[in-house]
Amino acid sequence: MKKIIIAIDGYSSCGKSTLAKQLAKQLNYIFIDTGAMYRTITLYFLRKGIDASQKEIILKELPNIHLTFVYDESLGKNAIYLNGENVELAIREMSVSNNVSPFATIAEIRQLAVAQQQLMGESKGIVMDGRDIGTVVFPQAELKIFMTASPEVRIERRFKEMQPSHPNITKEEVRKNLEERDYIDSHREVSPLRQAEDARVLDNSNMTRDEQLDLVKGWVKELE
Ligand code: DC
Repeated sequence: MKKIIIAIDGYSSCGKSTLAKQLAKQLNYIFIDTGAMYRTITLYFLRKGIDASQKEIILKELPNIHLTFVYDESLGKNAIYLNGENVELAIREMSVSNNVSPFATIAEIRQLAVAQQQLMGESKGIVMDGRDIGTVVFPQAELKIFMTASPEVRIERRFKEMQPSHPNITKEEVRKNLEERDYIDSHREVSPLRQAEDARVLDNSNMTRDEQLDLVKGWVKELE
């Protein structure tokens, strides 16, 4: 069977990573969560007390950031490492979620991430999720999926996902974070989030995980 590239884009908390992880497992493909890369770069700067407006310092620091992925059996997916440190948990903190979108607007940060993403896709057999995968990273991807779900469903899912690690979080905080990120991600100058013309739209508001997996596996079969 021919190996393909599967590009999954969409707004925050539409379930992109969940679908990508399941697909990769079933197809024996590599799964790369590109949001983790932007989150890790953000974590690096937050730890140094640098915010997204400090462009000059950011550009000087960028060569010191090395991102690697190592498969983690217990997670069933690749964990991301920042200069050799596993930061998979740290990048899910609210402080990172609240700051990542402004960092992801910076062209030089995107260039660094996109170059690494394109290298990882050279041998195909990859599922990558993010905001610009079908439009910028792999415009030649054989299968492009644009995921959406109603705001209420996304807030509810994200709230449930965050609760164990952030017991005091409120739905209002989750709503605000999602709205802000979606706005910045789709209005930035460089590689804004948009649906590729040849993307298949997947609205999973009323679908179970199994239903959406079956649907997408059918799409993959048509292309392999
Ligand atoms: O997928 P996520 O929510 O973990 O992504 C975190 C942020 O990273 C998101 O708000 C926008 C940015 N991002 C991006 O600009 N381009 C990507 N390909 C992936 C994520």
